Amino acid sequence: MALPVSCREVFSSIEGCGYWFSAAVSPGEAEAIIQGLGIVLLVTDVTVRPGKALVTSDQALDYHTDHHRADFICWHCIEQTDQGGETMLLDSYQLLAGLPPATAAKLRQIQLHEHKVFNGDQERFPLLSKRFDRDKLYYSFWMLKGGVQQELKAAFMEFKRLTEEASPIRFKLQPGDFLIIDNGRMLHGRTAIQGHKPRHLRRFWIAKPNPNEGEPHASIGNTGSYFAEANQPA
Ligand SMILES: [Fe+2]
Repeated sequence: MALPVSCREVFSSIEGCGYWFSAAVSPGEAEAIIQGLGIVLLVTDVTVRPGKALVTSDQALDYHTDHHRADFICWHCIEQTDQGGETMLLDSYQLLAGLPPATAAKLRQIQLHEHKVFNGDQERFPLLSKRFDRDKLYYSFWMLKGGVQQELKAAFMEFKRLTEEASPIRFKLQPGDFLIIDNGRMLHGRTAIQGHKPRHLRRFWIAKPNPNEGEPHASIGNTGSYFAEANQPA
């Protein structure tokens, strides 16, 4: 299939600014790009529907990263509501650069709670770690649970304050729009979903193969079935 861009171009954009965006991407093109990025771990249809999962609620979502095993998150827009539902991105590397080194060092000591999605998942994951020789951020402010040393909590709140003061990159995704982010770098959130039209994004969690880890486990595999029934929401 002829792609609108090469995967090298997509990687280059993500490497440079943390994300890649294109309008008018067909399902086949999206699938080809996704297959070039890595291994599909999970596919979720993000729509508003009853249940406890925040991602499929109509609520605004504050800045966070998704599951730590997703190196990339891809959203392909199928339908968009007529009010709200904007995607917001923040570059954590820029935020971290604004922190004193001592504060960043404290962030590396913080373990955040994480929902179990895959077999073998642990209950916690470090807020700041290393992957592919780069900083990897895992962040959800509501996942700071249990007793935390005061000095670590102060560092955490300082980082949270930076997220609140920063100006996000905003996308109101339209049908055919395709957005990919580095989930270890870019925080994402969204505004509340309002309006009278349904909103439907197909979300893909992608693991970048790591020669030191072998094949990612618990993947659904790259079956080439973009429209295969999506997995349960995370
Ligand atoms: Fe998310």
